Amino acid sequence: MSRTRTPRTVVDDAERARRLASLLDYHGRLLPNESHRRAVATSVGTPMPDALRLNPLQPASLGLPSTLRRRGATPVPWCSQTYQFEVPAPHLGQTLEYLLGAFYVQAAAPTLAVVVLDPQPGERILDLCAAPGGKTTQISACMNNTGLLVANEPKRKRLPSLIGNLERCGVANTVLTGAPGAMMARTFHNYFDRVLLDAPCSGDGIVRKSETVLAHWSAEKAVHRSHHQTGLLRAAFHMLRPGGTLVYSTCSLSLEENESVLTGLLRRYGEKAELLPIDGFAAPPLPRAVASHYPAELARAVRIWPHPHDTEGAFVARITKHDPTQWPAADDDAADWLVYRKEDAAVEARRHRLEEHWHFSMPLPSDQTLTVRGEYLCCEPERAADFRSRNLHFIRAGMRVARRHRGYDYLSQQAATLWGHGMKGPSVQLDWPEVACLFQNKTVSLARKAPTRGLVLCRFGPWTLTRGVVGWDRRGLQGLLPGAMHRPVLARL
Ligand SMILES: C[S@@+](CC[C@H](N)C(=O)[O-])C[C@H]1O[C@@H](n2cnc3c(N)ncnc32)[C@H](O)[C@@H]1O
Repeated sequence: MSRTRTPRTVVDDAERARRLASLLDYHGRLLPNESHRRAVATSVGTPMPDALRLNPLQPASLGLPSTLRRRGATPVPWCSQTYQFEVPAPHLGQTLEYLLGAFYVQAAAPTLAVVVLDPQPGERILDLCAAPGGKTTQISACMNNTGLLVANEPKRKRLPSLIGNLERCGVANTVLTGAPGAMMARTFHNYFDRVLLDAPCSGDGIVRKSETVLAHWSAEKAVHRSHHQTGLLRAAFHMLRPGGTLVYSTCSLSLEENESVLTGLLRRYGEKAELLPIDGFAAPPLPRAVASHYPAELARAVRIWPHPHDTEGAFVARITKHDPTQWPAADDDAADWLVYRKEDAAVEARRHRLEEHWHFSMPLPSDQTLTVRGEYLCCEPERAADFRSRNLHFIRAGMRVARRHRGYDYLSQQAATLWGHGMKGPSVQLDWPEVACLFQNKTVSLARKAPTRGLVLCRFGPWTLTRGVVGWDRRGLQGLLPGAMHRPVLARL
């Protein structure tokens, strides 16, 4: 079945064609031969296949691989959690599974950066440019929601999408900060086990997905951006501990935003920095005449072209650090911070009441702590308190477990979907029409009398959807879904 493309006109057709031809020509110089150039031009003219990445943090993702295979989706070679559909899969964002955080709608190419980063449970990791959170949610899943994941995003207007994705995907191990990337390096000296710099870029590699890139792209602007990227890469490298892993990625295919930026780092830090090979990913090499302008080790980075894997363009490089670095204007040293704060008795009492009502034991990782933040009871990485007290562009941390209202702790939506399967407290099982009604924010008339009145978990098969209130007749159920989850029409994967 052929895929249809939604036309998006940014300039008139002739101008669009001229700009696209000039971009393809520009990129074409980086390919080894004419057949590759033709293949890129063809793939850029073909719509992207729909793709998603499963989120193993959420119980609702279990069992989805067989559903996906039935729908003709196959895992991509470098990331077994990412599936690409052979036939269009419209409305993925309207499905129940999406709303429960079982997957993130994401193309195949950007998932490679986190695979190369290889995050491990319990580590300290920095995602320097985080919004809207595609890679943050992927990193947190690799860490199994443990350790410390600092997600930084300085653009305020991009925070709601980042926070929404973290909550939907059940991410609890983050500290969210809002600093310009280079400023973070004044505090974090040789500190993180791994750093991801998914740099702001021209996006010239994703013209296949969004032609709006054509309205802004020019070779001069790419040079301008590379100065910003060079500064961010230095800061990212400084924050990495010796022996750690830094991944530099962009969705640009240009030399300016990739090889030139990396060359700047290698020149500045000499033998302290080393580019490492990326195993298991073959990509067409740069023509020799182009490659000869850069240090030979840059051939170890990967440029993902759209045509071999039917995805968008991207660039990924893996770097390690051999010796500590110094930063010119240092404020403080985060390595001195860590002070463990024990949970206090009042917090423990609230935890106990929640556990009693919902009949479960809160599955907190040993490096997370339960704490009160305003009206919320939150679980957060132990180190979050230090970020807060030092006011390091702190925005928020961890996961909201419950909200206090009139002396009672109401379980949050995020805790319900993430932990609900382990709760043996009051619940009602819904059928599909009742689920659809719940997501329309209508009162559900239950086909079967609920076992109890008052607060319950609403379940659909093995999945916990949300919390709800059962009325006095045990027939009426009012869901407590957040407004952002309401859907007039709800689909299934
Ligand atoms: C390519 S996007 C990141 C995409 C994200 N990693 C993901 O996978 O969803 C780059 C981000 O860098 C942010 N940014 C721009 N300038 C920055 C700076 N000086 N320091 C840190 N982040 C910056 C942008 O606002 C943007 O959200």
